[in-house]
Amino acid sequence: MLNSKIKRPSHQELVDKANESVESVKEVVAKDPQRCAYHFMAPAYWINDPNGLIYFRGEYHLFYQHNPYGPLWGAMHWGHAKSKDLVHWEYLPIALAPSEDYDYHERGGCFSGSAVDDNGLFTLIYTGTVLEKDGQVKQVQCVATSTDGITFTKYPGNPVINQPPVDGSSDFRDPKVWKHHDTWYMVVGSCKNGKGKALLYKSLDLRNWDYVGVLAESDGTKGTMWECPDFFPLGDKYVLIVSPMGMDNHKVIYMVGNMDYGTGRFTSDRYEEVDYGFDFYAPQTFLDGQGRRIMIGWMNSWDWMPWFKSFGPTVTNNWCGIMSVPRVLSLDSDGRLIFQPVEELKSLRRQHRQFKDFEIVQDSSNILGDFKGNCLEVIGEFDLNSCNANEFGFKLRCSSDGKEQTYVKYNTKAKELIFVRNKLDASSEEIRRCKVEISNNKTLKLHIFIDRISVEVFVNEGKVVMSSNIYPSPSSQGIDIFSHGGTVKMISLDVWQLKSIWQEDKSCTISLHRESF
Ligand code: FRU
Repeated sequence: MLNSKIKRPSHQELVDKANESVESVKEVVAKDPQRCAYHFMAPAYWINDPNGLIYFRGEYHLFYQHNPYGPLWGAMHWGHAKSKDLVHWEYLPIALAPSEDYDYHERGGCFSGSAVDDNGLFTLIYTGTVLEKDGQVKQVQCVATSTDGITFTKYPGNPVINQPPVDGSSDFRDPKVWKHHDTWYMVVGSCKNGKGKALLYKSLDLRNWDYVGVLAESDGTKGTMWECPDFFPLGDKYVLIVSPMGMDNHKVIYMVGNMDYGTGRFTSDRYEEVDYGFDFYAPQTFLDGQGRRIMIGWMNSWDWMPWFKSFGPTVTNNWCGIMSVPRVLSLDSDGRLIFQPVEELKSLRRQHRQFKDFEIVQDSSNILGDFKGNCLEVIGEFDLNSCNANEFGFKLRCSSDGKEQTYVKYNTKAKELIFVRNKLDASSEEIRRCKVEISNNKTLKLHIFIDRISVEVFVNEGKVVMSSNIYPSPSSQGIDIFSHGGTVKMISLDVWQLKSIWQEDKSCTISLHRESF
C-alpha cells in the first residue's frame, strides 16, 4: 500500500479539523435563500448518499457521504445527524474521516455503508478505499463502533473484507448489513464483465465474513455496476433496490421476489423504477420502531456532467445536495412498491386553504390568484370521468413575467405524468415522463412537496414518484393550475404553507388571500 509510510493525524484530529471547516461557513449557508427549509442537508458543503440509516435507542440516525472541505465531491467523510421525528434534525459531529491506510486518499475516503445495532453496540460497516502501488484503487469493507452514538472508533482489524470475491471486481462497495435469525448478512455492490452484481456475505460477529455467492445480477440489461444495493423483507417477499450505472434514465430500480437463504440466491422476474424524476439516487431503507420500512434517497444524481455545471447554483454558496423526504414503503396487490411521505411531515403544515368541486376551464390562468410560495405542500385530486382536456396540471415556481415555470402535468391521451423544468435556465432544459395507470375510480391525485430548489411528486397515493431539483430565482414563487384543450374538474385542492425545520429560518412565505373560488 502506497500510503502506509505517511505519518498522518489521528482519526479524532481529522474529525475535529473537518468539523471546524464546516463550522466556518455554516452561517453563510444558513442565510442562503435557496437553502432547503425542510429537506435534510449538511450545515455546509457537499453531500451525497444517505448512509447508516438506523432507528437506535428511540432516535433516528442519518449519516451521509460528505466532503467537509468544499461544495463538490471530494475525499469522503461520514456526516451525522439524528432526529426524534424524521422531520427535525440535530447535527452531530462528523462520524468518520479518512484516516487509515485502508480509507485515506483523495480519490476515495470512507464510502457508503450501513449501521446496525450489535447487541447494544452502535456499529457502522463502510467501504474503505486503498490506493495501491500500481495506482489502482481497491475497495475494501471496514467496521467502526461507538458506545455513545457520537464518537466512532475504527476496528483495529480493518479491513474486515480486503479483497473482492471471484465474482466481483475492484468496484466493490456500499455494504448493506442485516440480521436473519442469528446470522449477519451483507450485500455489496459490484460488477464483472459489464454486469452489475449484488454479492452476498455472512458472519456471526460482523468481523469475520464468509462469501456466500451472487445474490442477484444484471442479465446484461440492468446496468454495468450496481451501486448501493439494499435488500430487505417486506410482507412475505424480499425487495432488492440498486442504483445501476450505465442504465440511462433508470437511476434506481427495484425487484420484488423471493430469497432462498439456503442457496443465497434472490429471484425475481421483473424490475420497476423507484423514482422517475431527475434527482433521486442511492436510497437506503431501514426499519423503525413502528415496524415501518422507511427510505431516504440523495436528491441528485451523477450524470449531469460536467460537475461544475451539473450540481446547480448552490455550489457557489458553499453547499450542494439534499436528502429526499423520508418515504414509507409497502407492497400493493400487484407486487409493486408504494412510496408514501412519512405522516410526521404533517407537523410542518401551517396556513391552509382548501377548495372543493370546481372546474378548470380551458386555457384559464391565474386561478389561484395571490397564492404563492416556495415551501409548500399541495394535494390536488382531479376527476377524469368528465375530463375532456388534453393536458392539465400545476405550474410551480412561476416568475411574474412568466419566464420561469415548472410544470407537473398529466397528458390524458398518452396517460403520462410529465415534469417540465425547461423554463428555468439553460442548464435545466429537460423533461421527464412516466405512465400513470388510472384505476377504476378515475381520479388522479397529485401530492407535491415544494422546497426552494426541490419538487417531489407522489402520484395516486405513491404508486409513482418523481423527484427533481429546480433552480428558479428565489423570487419566482407563483403557483397556478391549468387545463389545455378542454375542461377538467377538481374534486379537491389543498395547499399548505410548510414551516422551516431550522430555527433560524423564518423566511418561508406564502400569501393565501383567496379563500375560495
Ligand atoms: C453512489 C456512490 C457510492 C459510493 C459513494 C462515494 O453515489 O458512488 O457507490 O460509495 O457514492 O461517495
